[in-house]
Amino acid sequence: MKQFISTADVPSVPRLVDIAMNYKKDPFIDKELGKNKTLGMIFLNPSLRTRLSTQVAAKNLGMEAVVFNIDKEGWALEMNDGVVMNGNTTEHVKEAAAVMGQYFDILAIRTFPGLKNKEEDYTEKYINQFIKYAGVPVVSLESATLHPLQSLTDVITIKENWQQPRKPKVVMTWAPHVKSLPQAVPNSFAQWMNAWGEVDFVIAHPEGYELDEKFSGNARIEHNQDKALEGADFVYVKNWSSYRDYGKITCTDPSWMVTNDKLKHTNTAKVMHCLPVRRNVVIADEVLDGPQSIVIPEAGNRVWAAQAVLSEILKG
Ligand code: CP
Repeated sequence: MKQFISTADVPSVPRLVDIAMNYKKDPFIDKELGKNKTLGMIFLNPSLRTRLSTQVAAKNLGMEAVVFNIDKEGWALEMNDGVVMNGNTTEHVKEAAAVMGQYFDILAIRTFPGLKNKEEDYTEKYINQFIKYAGVPVVSLESATLHPLQSLTDVITIKENWQQPRKPKVVMTWAPHVKSLPQAVPNSFAQWMNAWGEVDFVIAHPEGYELDEKFSGNARIEHNQDKALEGADFVYVKNWSSYRDYGKITCTDPSWMVTNDKLKHTNTAKVMHCLPVRRNVVIADEVLDGPQSIVIPEAGNRVWAAQAVLSEILKG
């Protein structure tokens, strides 16, 4: 693999999942693979799981990881080409990315969308500027529109929790939130479910929360959450802001929160969420603390997803 930004970079999703599951069984099998190699992890936004799991993954491969919270500790970056830099930005991404490419063998970047300018966000302007100028492979730690390390983790988590011959019914349901959140996680989850192809995939959301069709693809769309959840084997809960009315919160209906009552017509569904999650807004305590929640082992699987991706890039 040359980079890891979306499913387009992955020759075979099932093979990458198998590699990750092998690392889960034997974390140190490739402990020499990353010897004398350095991973630069650049954060323009906060993180707990992505940062720590990727650091652990690098360590398991014998690779050094350097974390740089560029939003707090670096110079203010200019992302636009050809501008007169007489404002608040101090360093152009052309130099910043190229310099980091001199220090690191792989550059991993987290860059959230502004949720103000749909075109700027959906052309992935920021991460593409890093790809253009870094000169080394780039791994997304979540970009404006996608979160591939999370989605690979989610495929792994579904696979290891499903032993039946039929395809599981996976329902990704919108849930309320107090803040305007990116569409990166749901876009990415949909993209990976479609690329994987091993699930019966349904997306439930209020009207007006349709995702970009290039990600939702042929998923069945339901505006009735109860109907969508009937017979579900996995319920993937996530809030996102409107793509149509870009970045806006157009629904706050608390009845979309996932509770035990909501799960009663599922097939004792496993409940997933990428975390962090706002308790009793997105998912009720009774679900998160109950036997159907697999959010903690799901987060644990982040290590194996990151390890699989780094190893494939190290192998070139
Ligand atoms: N799920 C996820 O990416 O978590 P963090 O934002 O804490 O990294």
